[in-house]
Amino acid sequence: MSEPIQIYGINGPVVTVKGRTGLQMMEMVHVGDARLVGEVIGLDADRTTIQVYEETGGLRPGQPIYPTGGPMCVTLGPGILRNIYDGIQRPLPALQKKSGAFIGRGIEAPALDADALWEVTVTVAPGQTLRAGEVYATCPETPVILHRCMVPPDLSGTVEWTAENGSYTVNDTVVKLRDEKGVLHELTLCQRWPIRTPRPAARRMPATRPLVTGQRVIDTMFPMAKGGAAAIPGGFGTGKTMTQHQLAKWCDADIIIYVGCGERGNEMTQALTEFGEITDPKSGRPLTDRTVLIANTSNMPVAAREASIYTGITLAEYYRDMGYHTAMMADSTSRWAEALREISGRLEEMPADEGFPAYLPSRLAEFYERAGYVQTLGGQEGSVSVIGAVSPQGSDFSEPVTQNTKRFTRCFWALDKSLAYARHYPAINWNDSYSEYLGDLSHWYYDNVGPDFLSCREELAGILLQENSLMEIVKLIGSDVLPDDQKLIIEIAKVVRVGFLQQNAFHRDDTYVPLEKQLKMMRIILHLYHTCQAIVARQVPLSQILGLGLFEKVTRIKYDVPNDHLELLDAYPAQIDDALRVFAGTDYRKGE
Ligand SMILES: Nc1ncnc2c1ncn2[C@@H]1O[C@H](COP(=O)(O)OP(=O)(O)OP(=O)(O)O)[C@@H](O)[C@H]1O
Ligand SMILES: [Mg+2]
Repeated sequence: MSEPIQIYGINGPVVTVKGRTGLQMMEMVHVGDARLVGEVIGLDADRTTIQVYEETGGLRPGQPIYPTGGPMCVTLGPGILRNIYDGIQRPLPALQKKSGAFIGRGIEAPALDADALWEVTVTVAPGQTLRAGEVYATCPETPVILHRCMVPPDLSGTVEWTAENGSYTVNDTVVKLRDEKGVLHELTLCQRWPIRTPRPAARRMPATRPLVTGQRVIDTMFPMAKGGAAAIPGGFGTGKTMTQHQLAKWCDADIIIYVGCGERGNEMTQALTEFGEITDPKSGRPLTDRTVLIANTSNMPVAAREASIYTGITLAEYYRDMGYHTAMMADSTSRWAEALREISGRLEEMPADEGFPAYLPSRLAEFYERAGYVQTLGGQEGSVSVIGAVSPQGSDFSEPVTQNTKRFTRCFWALDKSLAYARHYPAINWNDSYSEYLGDLSHWYYDNVGPDFLSCREELAGILLQENSLMEIVKLIGSDVLPDDQKLIIEIAKVVRVGFLQQNAFHRDDTYVPLEKQLKMMRIILHLYHTCQAIVARQVPLSQILGLGLFEKVTRIKYDVPNDHLELLDAYPAQIDDALRVFAGTDYRKGE
C-alpha cells in the first residue's frame, strides 16, 4: 500500500476513510495520533467504516490510521482471573496505575501482566505429538484454579523442546512444537483469539446437569442446565442485577465471568467488593479467585459495550476448553442492543423493529449459541452457561430484545413489577417463567437429590396453578363462598409463595439453599397439605386447623433451619402430626 490511511470523517464512534485502504473487514486498527482502538465494520470500493472503542473527541480528519493486520483479539493466559477488564480487555487496574482515576485515551497496558511470574509445570516431553487443545503446561493461576496452557485450536505437531519446570512470565517460551509442515512454533503461557469467532470444541453434548444456584425458585421451579442459556427480563428496579449477583455468588460453576454492560458504575464496584467478601464454601477462598469482571458502565464508550459480551464469552470458552464449567452473566443485554442500534444509526442503515438493526436477531443468536456443554478438543468436559439480563422499557416484554432473546434461550425468568412492588423477591413470576431444561435434568435430580424431587415440584406448581384460578373467583365474589378444601389450597399456596418461592438475599442462611433443603422443604409443605386435606375431608373447619399456627411454622422453616443443621427438618412431619392429633376422631360430618 502506497499512501498512508487517513481519517476522512468522524461521526461519534464511527470514523470513515475514503479510497482504497487494503484494510479487511473486522480488522483491528489504531485510529488517530492517540492510537485509539477501532475495528473495521464496513468496506466499500471507495469507503471504509471503522468503529472506535474509545472517546473520539479530539480526532481530526487527516490523522493517520494504523492497520494491525488481524481481527480484534483477546489474550488468553494466566492472570485473567481476579482481573477487571473493559469491553476490549484493557485491564482497568493496570490502566488506573498508569493514568489515575480517569483513564486517558489511547493508553495501553497488556491484558496480562507481563512481569508476573507463574510457577509452571511442563506436562509434555520432547518427541511427544500434540493435538490441538492438548495441555502442555499448567500453573496455579489462583489458589483454587489450575491454569492449563493448551495447544491453540489451529495447531498440532511434535514437541521439539521443553523448558524446565520453574517460574516464567506469560511471554516466555515453555514448549517448541514443530507442525506437519515443518514450521517451528514457540508456545508461551498465552495465546490470542479473535473475540467474534467461537472457539471450537470436539463435539457438543446434551446438557443434562443443572447449574445449581441455591435459589429455590430457580433450582426447583425453573432450573437451568450447565451449558444452558437463560434470560432475565425485567422492568426498572425489578431485581435483575440482584439476581445476577446472587447467581454469580452462589452458582456451582468453576469460573464466573461477570459483564456489566452499560449499567451503573457503582453496581460494578459493589460487585467487586461483595465478591471479595464472599468466601467460597468449597474452598474457603474469596470468590474473586475464580472471577473476572468486565466493566463497560454507562459512562464508558458505547462501541466497547458492543464488544464486551464477545470478549466475555471468549474468556468463558477459553476456561471451558481447560475442562471447567464457566458461567457468564451479562447485565444488561438491552444496553448492548442499544449500542448496536446507536452504531447502526450512525451508519445510516435501514432500521427494523423499534429502530434496532435488522441483524439484531442474528447477533443475539450468535451470542447465545456460544453457550453449551462440550467435549473439548483436549478430550475433557466443560461448559459455558450464559445468563443475560434484559431490561425492556416499561416492562413491555413484547419489545424486540426480549422477544428475540426468548427465541434463543431455553430458560426464561420473567421478573414481575407487581411482585417486586410487593417486595416478593426474587420477583420471578411463576406464571410467565419457564425452563425447557426440566426434562433433560430429570434424571440428574432423580439420582442426586431424590426420586420424588420432580413429583414434589409438579405438585407445588399444581397448587400455584389452582390458586390462580381460585383467585379469579375470589376477586369476583370474595373468599367466603369457597368451600374449605378450596380455601385450604389458597392457604397452602401462600406457604409455597412466601415460605418457598420468596427468598431473602440478605439473610445469612436464606441467601443460598442447598438442594437437599429445597427438597425437604417441599416434602414438609406437601405433608402439611395432605394431612390437612384429610382432616378437612372429615368436615373439620379449616379455621380450627389454621388456628394451630402450623402454616406459619412451615413458612418460617427457611429462617428457622440453618443450612448446617438440616437434620432439624426431619422433625417437622412428626411435629405436624402431633399438633393435628387434636382432631383425631373428630368428625363433623352429619349422620356418621
Ligand atoms: N432477591 C432479593 N432479595 C432482597 N431484595 C431484593 C432482591 N432482588 C431485588 N431486591 C431489591 O430490589 C432492589 C432493586 O434491584 P436491582 O437493582 O437488582 O434491580 P434492577 O432490575 O437491576 O434495576 P435496574 O432496572 O435499575 O437495573 C434492590 O436494591 C433490592 O433492595
Ligand atoms: Mg440493574
